[in-house]
Amino acid sequence: MIEISKLKKKQFSLIMHLKLAGTELFKFKTNDCLSPIGWHIIHCLYVECIWIRSYFFGDNLLVNKLKNIADSNKIKPKNRGLILPEYNYLYEFSKNEFNKNLILCNKIKSRKKLLYFLQFLINHHSQHLETIKIILNLINLKNKNAPIKSFSKIEEKVFNFNPVYIKEGYYKIGTSSSNKFSYDNEKPEFIKKLKSFLISKNLIRIDEWLCFLNSGGYKKKSLWSKAGWDWKCKNKITHPLGWKINKESLSISTAYGYEKPNKDKPVSNISFYELEAFANWVKLKIPHEFQWEAANSNLLDKYKVWEWHNNKFFPYENFMPYPYDEYSLPWFNNNYYTLRGASIFSETELKRKTFRNFYQPHIRFIFSGGRLSTN
Ligand SMILES: [Fe+2]
Repeated sequence: MIEISKLKKKQFSLIMHLKLAGTELFKFKTNDCLSPIGWHIIHCLYVECIWIRSYFFGDNLLVNKLKNIADSNKIKPKNRGLILPEYNYLYEFSKNEFNKNLILCNKIKSRKKLLYFLQFLINHHSQHLETIKIILNLINLKNKNAPIKSFSKIEEKVFNFNPVYIKEGYYKIGTSSSNKFSYDNEKPEFIKKLKSFLISKNLIRIDEWLCFLNSGGYKKKSLWSKAGWDWKCKNKITHPLGWKINKESLSISTAYGYEKPNKDKPVSNISFYELEAFANWVKLKIPHEFQWEAANSNLLDKYKVWEWHNNKFFPYENFMPYPYDEYSLPWFNNNYYTLRGASIFSETELKRKTFRNFYQPHIRFIFSGGRLSTN
């Protein structure tokens, strides 16, 4: 079964990232809402054991052993580094137990059920792998000695809307496919009537963002929502997260150190609030997630940054939690905005039209940007 080898690749990548972090950084806390890299490894192992060992074989031994360390409901992210085992133990233990799970998968008779849970685990691990890259970026930002040798001179550029016209009509949203994996919040498929709109084919670029910045976009209160302005002032936000500006040159932090940006690179690591101010500056709107999905085949630059949308994360009509309540239900609380697409740091399995990501509007440690629309 090809999914077993795909899962093996995810396990390998998790272990490699643990190795990359090493003894110095595997417990490193970047902020109160993100767990250290080492925790993501043991958590992925724990989630695998819930499905492969407990669900299919009734073996709860490892699940019970790991519960108090690796269950996201048991311990807050800010305390997760304190309870992790030592590096060498964690490395060897995870590697061996991951391997045992693969051997067990080959013994499962119900191939249809196995297929679903393998796909679930591949998607789950993919999301954690991206979070690890978010953490690596934050570690780079916190490291005062990180080499910033790659500066590039970027000329600001006036924003180019370059829209595609999407006519009024009925559009298919979400999925009910049982062949392709999707999370519960992408289901069920339904038909939505949308009014006509224009949406930019391209993502907002860094040279366009530089123009916003140079024209005082971060200083003009009238462009910002009340919540956005309060957040910006309180946190002294003056540019996207990770930008190092040296006279007219720019270097940008990434998961793998500072990089020399190209001018046409999409802006990343901006909050919903910053995008909202930019949209007001050019007198356009942030699209609704349905508009993104309806226009999908006409859009360029997909899957380069997560794209903020102007609607809160919500359940589709007839939503059914699956395979457990906690995957989506707790997040339908009106505090989260939906993001679509994926980023250059996303695993391929997450790059699909119906995938819905969700974060609070002030969050910008994710690889987030956006495109704009009319109404
Ligand atoms: Fe998880």
